[in-house]
Amino acid sequence: MSAPAAQPPADAPWTVGRILEWTTQHLKKNGCENARLDAELLLSEARGCPRIQLYVQFNEVVTDPQRTRMRDLVKRRTQAEPVAYLIGRREFFSLDFLVNRDVLVPRPDTETLVLELITEARKYENPRILELGTGSGCIAISTAVNVPTARVTAVDVSAPALVVANDNVQKHKVADRVTLLHGDLFAPLPADSQFDFVVSNPPYIADAEIEQLSNDVKLHEPHLALKGGTDGLEIIRRLFAAVPAFLVSGGRLLIEFSPEQAERMLRLVAENESFRDPRILKDMAGRARVLVATRR
Ligand SMILES: C[S@@+](CC[C@H](N)C(=O)[O-])C[C@H]1O[C@@H](n2cnc3c(N)ncnc32)[C@H](O)[C@@H]1O
Repeated sequence: MSAPAAQPPADAPWTVGRILEWTTQHLKKNGCENARLDAELLLSEARGCPRIQLYVQFNEVVTDPQRTRMRDLVKRRTQAEPVAYLIGRREFFSLDFLVNRDVLVPRPDTETLVLELITEARKYENPRILELGTGSGCIAISTAVNVPTARVTAVDVSAPALVVANDNVQKHKVADRVTLLHGDLFAPLPADSQFDFVVSNPPYIADAEIEQLSNDVKLHEPHLALKGGTDGLEIIRRLFAAVPAFLVSGGRLLIEFSPEQAERMLRLVAENESFRDPRILKDMAGRARVLVATRR
């Protein structure tokens, strides 16, 4: 049997290493899944340094103001506030996005849609892309950054979300190719708008299921970004009904959904005469995640 790890004496200085260890254990006890990563992100925020630098600062003593800040962040994390909101940032598609409580925290699951969109858009000389429900702008902006000839129009019904999206557009220097519009789905677009791609990660959680979500999501993320009506598909159905007028022949529709909705998504395409060749893409965890269909 190996000896238990030696505890530092109670009066030992609060070094970076010690605080990380203590916070990790504390967050684990409070049910945080990625306790070590969360501890590192919060301490790098409290110290105002990149996370990677903590590894060469293990023996440095954390100052009193930094410890006060860290205590506040850890307390809020144990109350299920997402780390992304606490530090005001989230990495998505290897880019850093500003986030606050007005936008959904970008999820790795959504990178599946972006990867497909980028791969297909690169085949065009000047792809025209419409994103519905842009939130932080993570889909529109990571696409514009990775497809330098793309023009992206990004719509959201939430004005506060568009403030965040605009900050990210400026941060990533794509303001000349990403246009943000405020309104309900296609409503803010000129009637004759035509796109090669229409993409969306819409709200798709059934209203009654919101209560079953983890506290991180349920208590802190905007319900406007989550709630998809009685069966979760209300916005997706409205989108399907209106989208044919805005897609050129041969253009693609890409929609993210929840894995258990795959069959219903395929049915929606089958019922819509405007589309052919539906395909379902899986996310990195192997779950059905994105519908791709081609405009006839
Ligand atoms: C699931 S979030 C996706 C945010 C971001 N695109 C992402 O992938 O992280 C859905 C977004 O759709 C927006 N939204 C909800 N209903 C909408 C509507 N009727 N028209 C336009 N946007 C809507 C919400 O405000 C939210 O920003």
